[in-house]
Amino acid sequence: MTVRAIPPRREEVSGLVRFVNDYRHEPVDERHLKHLLVQAPAPFNAETRAEQLPQQHITPVALFYVRNHGPVPLCPDVSQYRLVVDMRQWAGVQGAKAGGDLIRQFRLDELLRRFRFVQLEATLQCAGNRRTELEERARRVVRGVGWQQGVIGNAVWGGVPLAEVLLAALGECTGSATDPRALAGADDASESEWFVEFEGADWVPEEARQPSTHPAISSPGYRASVPLRQVLGGAGQTLPALLATEMNGQPLTRDHGYPLRCVVPGMYGARSVKWLWRIALRRGHSDGFFVQRDYKMLPSWMDGEQVDWNAVPPLMETNVQCAICVPAGREVRLSGQEAPALNGGEPHGAPNESTAGRHAVWLPLRGYACSGGGRRVVLVKVSGDGGRTWQAARFLDAANEEVSRKTRTGAFSWRLWVAQVPVAAPCQVVCRAVDEAANAQPDDVVPAWNLRGVAHNTTYRMQVLPPPSTSAGTHPPLAKL
Ligand code: MTE
Repeated sequence: MTVRAIPPRREEVSGLVRFVNDYRHEPVDERHLKHLLVQAPAPFNAETRAEQLPQQHITPVALFYVRNHGPVPLCPDVSQYRLVVDMRQWAGVQGAKAGGDLIRQFRLDELLRRFRFVQLEATLQCAGNRRTELEERARRVVRGVGWQQGVIGNAVWGGVPLAEVLLAALGECTGSATDPRALAGADDASESEWFVEFEGADWVPEEARQPSTHPAISSPGYRASVPLRQVLGGAGQTLPALLATEMNGQPLTRDHGYPLRCVVPGMYGARSVKWLWRIALRRGHSDGFFVQRDYKMLPSWMDGEQVDWNAVPPLMETNVQCAICVPAGREVRLSGQEAPALNGGEPHGAPNESTAGRHAVWLPLRGYACSGGGRRVVLVKVSGDGGRTWQAARFLDAANEEVSRKTRTGAFSWRLWVAQVPVAAPCQVVCRAVDEAANAQPDDVVPAWNLRGVAHNTTYRMQVLPPPSTSAGTHPPLAKL
C-alpha cells in the first residue's frame, strides 16, 4: 500500500493524539508565515528568512525554523501525558532488582516536581541547512527539502536534565550497586555500545511499514538515538541533554514539540526528538529510518543505485559552520551608494593589494557561526576578494554570553558576527569559521556533495556585482543591500 493510500485516522499513545496521514489538524494559528520561508507545506517545513537571523542572539519562537516529518500530534490534556522509560534491555543485561519497574512512566508534573529545572542556551541546526547552495555549487542534484542558510536558530531551552531522569529510573529499576555511568562508558569490545533511543508520537510516512513499538499505534514515530555515555558523562565530553518543556521561557508550541521534547545540544537537530513519548535504553543505535536510512553523509561517489546506507554512521555532532545572512542572497548587486574604501584604514578591514587601484567600496556583512559537541567558534574570517586576503570579523557576544569554564554556558550557542570588507565588484565575498579544536570549514564543494545534501559546511560564498549602469545620473533602487 502506498502512503497516499493509507486512510487518514487518529491513534492515541501516552496521552498524545497522532494523526495518521492527515494534515488537517496542523497548528496553523501558531505559524507566523510572514517571518518564515515555507519550503514544504505538508509536512510543514519552514526556515527563518536569512536577514532576520543575525538580528538577535536568541531567536524568537515566531521566527524559529520548523522541520516536521509528519503531521503534528496533539496533546489535548497534559495531565494524561506520560513519558515512558523502557529499561527492559538494560535490566536484562545488568540485572533488575526485585519489584523494580522495567518500564517506568512519568507524568509531566512529576518530572517537573522531582527534578531540577534548568535552562540551557543551545543552537539547533537542521542537517539540511545550506542544501540548496550545495546543489547549485556542486551542480549535482541532491534529494531533500531545499533549504537556504536559515534552518538554524538559537534558543533558551528549559527543562529537566535527561541524565538525572535516567539515573533515577535506572536506580529504581535495577538498584544496581554499579554506577550506570561506569557501565555506559565501559570499553567492552565484545558488546556494542549503549544508546538512548527517543521516539516521538508523530506518524511519519517513512516508518509507515515498520512494526509498531506499541499496540495502540500502527507504526513507530520519528526516532533517534544518542550514545548513553555522552548523556550520562564519564569519559569524554558530556552533552547536557534536556527533556525540555519550554523554549525561550514559554511552553513549547505544538510545532516545536509540546508538551515535551529532548534537546541534545551540539548535535544535529534530527537528534532532538519532538512530542517525545518513549525513551529506551538499547545496545546499538536505533533501527529507526532517520538513524539508519537518512541523516547520514554518504560519500560523494554514492548516487542512484550505488547507495549503501550501512557504509557510514548516523550524523551526530554538528560540524563547524558559518554563513553570511546580511546581505541575504548569494548574488548581490552593489547599489552605487556604498562608502568608498579609501586607503587609510577603517575599524574592520582596510583596502588591500587586490582592491588597490580599483574602485573599492565597503560592504557591511552580518552572519552566524557555530560548531558541534560544545566546541566554540573562535574565529570568523572574511574575504572580499574570493579568499586571497582575509580579515577577522567581530563577534557580537554580550559579556554574559561568554563561556563559563565550569558550566560551559554558551558552549552550545552560535556566535553572531559583523564585518566590513573592501570589495571591488565583480568579486566574491567568502566567510570561514574556525572552532576551538581548530576545525575550519572546507573550501571544496565537490567532495562535500552527498546524495541527501546534509552537513554542508563549505565556506560560504557570495558573488558581488557592480552597480547597474545608470542613466541620467539616477540610481535604480536596489533592495538587496
Ligand atoms: N522529532 C519528531 N518527533 N519529528 C520530527 O519530524 N524533526 C527533527 C527534530 N525532531 C522531528 C523531530 C529535525 S530533522 C529537526 S532539524 C528538529 O526536530 C527541528 O526542530 P524544530 O522544528 O523545533 O526547529
